[in-house]
Amino acid sequence: MKIIIINGPNLNLLGVREPEIYGQSSFEEYLITLRQHFPAIEIAYFQSNIEGEIINKIHEVGFSYDGILLNAGAYTHTSIAIGDAVAAIKTPVIEVHISNVFSRESFRHVSFIAPYAKGIIAGFGLNAYQIAIQSLLN
Ligand code: DQA
Repeated sequence: MKIIIINGPNLNLLGVREPEIYGQSSFEEYLITLRQHFPAIEIAYFQSNIEGEIINKIHEVGFSYDGILLNAGAYTHTSIAIGDAVAAIKTPVIEVHISNVFSRESFRHVSFIAPYAKGIIAGFGLNAYQIAIQSLLN
């Protein structure tokens, strides 16, 4: 099984950025334990702060991978183009958020990805990624 985590803008700053919301760990640190947790799964990782690069990656993997975990960061709430990319592909996409976006500002309650996602996991910190992979296995 081959899946990919695609993280969007500012998620390269995890561990440094607003740790009271996003936690103390960098994503690279977390990825080590995540891969150890699922040794039989190939877990690729891509992060970009650039909308078009995220769309290109979704196109590249979206017809061959078994699953995509997509945390598009703030683009979740603004990008019709990323929503369209998710609608265009065959691979199931799980929308992931570290924080509970629904307990935060109202602009975070909107998602252009959610209508095309298999499901959404939000509010469990970095553990959201583990829950998302488990849900693909189920
Ligand atoms: C986020 C939530 C978004 O609203 C925010 O813009 C992010 C991170 C999360 O993982 O909680 O950058 O996607």
